[in-house]
Amino acid sequence: MRVILFTGKGGVGKTTAAAGTAVASARAGHRTLVLSTDAAHSLADAFDVPVGADPTPVAERLFVQQVDAQLRFERSWADVQRYLLSVLDAAGVDPITAEELTVVPGAEEVLALLELRTQVLTGGWDVVVVDCAPTAETLRLLALPEALGWYMDRVFPAERRIVKALRPVLAKAAGVPMPQDDVFDAVERLHRDLEEVHAILTGPDASVRLVLTPETVVVAEARRSLTTLSLFGYRVDGVVANRVFPSDGADAWRLTWAEAQSAVLAEVEQSFTGLPIWRSSYQASEPVGVAALADFADATYGGDDPLVSPTSQSPMTVSRTRSGATLRIALPFVAKSDIDLARHGDELVVTVGSYRRLVALPAVLARHTVAGARIEDGALRVRFRAEAPA
Ligand SMILES: Nc1ncnc2c1ncn2[C@@H]1O[C@H](COP(=O)(O)OP(=O)(O)O)[C@@H](O)[C@H]1O
Ligand SMILES: [Mg+2]
Repeated sequence: MRVILFTGKGGVGKTTAAAGTAVASARAGHRTLVLSTDAAHSLADAFDVPVGADPTPVAERLFVQQVDAQLRFERSWADVQRYLLSVLDAAGVDPITAEELTVVPGAEEVLALLELRTQVLTGGWDVVVVDCAPTAETLRLLALPEALGWYMDRVFPAERRIVKALRPVLAKAAGVPMPQDDVFDAVERLHRDLEEVHAILTGPDASVRLVLTPETVVVAEARRSLTTLSLFGYRVDGVVANRVFPSDGADAWRLTWAEAQSAVLAEVEQSFTGLPIWRSSYQASEPVGVAALADFADATYGGDDPLVSPTSQSPMTVSRTRSGATLRIALPFVAKSDIDLARHGDELVVTVGSYRRLVALPAVLARHTVAGARIEDGALRVRFRAEAPA
């Protein structure tokens, strides 16, 4: 099953590109679902039909869904939140303030992606297209289970046992309620589900497309997104450059715009070398409805198959060398001075600016030490040397 995500700055055309791609997919004979996790739902506007929180049919083989993030949030987070509320209540915090304190920013978005897992598990779809929130923030948050993995595997079960044993004593002594088993269950379930979503989205059948408009600030943000997405293991397989002014039969105003845009587009071509850049012209009216979206997709992809992922290389690969092995992580646009590397047990800690990823090292690298690192062709290459047997 193919999963394609669309992300980009607000208003650039994510929803339109996602909806157009889904229409093209359904027309090519695939059972297709397009779902939005962006709280600012606009799939209903793009298709010009009412859309519910469950898959709603809009054309042959094509369903649309606007995930109710609030509902998902309540379902998944309710047990944990109830516990936090009881703790805050015992601590004398005003209930309204407590309610606010238990809201995690960005959590709703992430939990909305849990619906993707549910839909993938139904097995009813050939293609799922996701209309994501702006920027790569959400996808970064999805790497959270990976970062928490060590804790969840080793510390969490022990903590759970300790709490169980000490619950009666501590509850009396501190006057603070200790978490019940259902809280631990809820945390564990949430962790497992998020891990699965992350695995689906970083798997070989999933890819992310960056939508941008030919404006300097928008392109700068798209470049940053590409770096962050790569760092967290997502495959970016193309760029949609939307709202390109046609330069034919132009008046002076439009010609000036077209010139400015073509300068930025040249920069886009350079920045995203190796990725297809699909251009889509600024239309005289909004592409709304199945027919208009189909035209949008045809014009954007030209002769390309909208579903094919041209870059099949995984963002992270390990290859053997004579003295050990090399780990390669795609990291476009970064210089060696931007990167900080640390080895922490069987994990490699990669820091790029304010982003940090814990990369669980493959088992083959267990008995290896880091021998060096360099940046080459938009990728970080970490050299490992095999330790001499003791
Ligand atoms: N190529 C285009 N030509 C004309 N209007 C467009 C084009 N692409 C998008 N739009 C319109 O611009 C608005 C914003 O697009 P949308 O896809 O909702 O952006 P996003 O999801 O990134 O916020 C919508 O009204 C949409 O119909
Ligand atoms: Mg949108």
